[in-house]
Amino acid sequence: MAKIPAVGLGTWKLWCTYHEPSLVKVACKKSLKALKLDYLDLYLMHWPMGFQPGEEDVPLDLSGIVIPSDTSFLKTWEAMEDLVIKGLVKDIGVSNFNHEQLESLLNKSDLKFKPITNQIECHPYLTQKNLISFCKARDVSVTAYRPLGGSREGTDLLNNPTIRRIANHYNKSCAQILIRFQIQRDLIVIPKSTNPKRIQENIQVFDFELTENHMDEIMSLNRNLRLATFPTTESHKDYPFHIDF
Ligand SMILES: NC(=O)c1ccc[n+]([C@@H]2O[C@H](COP(=O)([O-])OP(=O)(O)OC[C@H]3O[C@@H](n4cnc5c(N)ncnc54)[C@H](OP(=O)(O)O)[C@@H]3O)[C@@H](O)[C@H]2O)c1
Repeated sequence: MAKIPAVGLGTWKLWCTYHEPSLVKVACKKSLKALKLDYLDLYLMHWPMGFQPGEEDVPLDLSGIVIPSDTSFLKTWEAMEDLVIKGLVKDIGVSNFNHEQLESLLNKSDLKFKPITNQIECHPYLTQKNLISFCKARDVSVTAYRPLGGSREGTDLLNNPTIRRIANHYNKSCAQILIRFQIQRDLIVIPKSTNPKRIQENIQVFDFELTENHMDEIMSLNRNLRLATFPTTESHKDYPFHIDF
């Protein structure tokens, strides 16, 4: 009987309560089982911060502050490298790492695999110019998350007058302008929609090109507005957003 080929797909993330090196493989195998896959194409460390392992995704103390683990993301990374060696994942990367954290990972003397990407919040209100230049200079791709400004926090990006004017100029939607903007910055961009019509719309972004002037105009909307701040973790030793870069 022919061997059934290994089935793999997609990107998944290692959550903060699984940063203990001994738990990294446990978490990965749990995800593979839930997804009914043999391997993942890409596995990301979701945050540089480790939390106390257990049932709670975000374990809090009585004052509502996250309970950290004493892990280091460098050690967690080593356990993720083992996943590549064992064939459970094809590539590994990070998410929400600041430039210093990324630098310390890249400078690791026994680094076996470089992070293939840094997945960071990025949209016209948080353009991340410096961090993106930093990643590109070190040959780490950048994945722009929350490119439309998300939903719950209710930014007005999808109704921003500048974006709307530019959208009208190209006869495109505001979402398409926001996605195309990131593509022209050579970023990987991951808009999310649960609506089939909008999913279709979000793919129709390869039949036009924003002019340099329009790109500059969108860039000038930056106001360093971070939506995913994760306030309960601000006192964590590895909280990534204290550094303004
Ligand atoms: N690494 C991290 O820490 C991190 C953090 C946050 C998010 N992410 C990832 O980033 C991706 C996207 O982030 P996100 O969902 O927070 O934000 P987003 O993609 O910027 O925004 C999603 C919102 O936009 C709406 N939308 C999508 N397409 C639209 C369109 N064409 N027109 C109008 N509205 C549209 C969606 O509503 P409908 O569903 O109703 O269309 C939803 O409310 C996800 O894959 C997520 O996992 C990663």
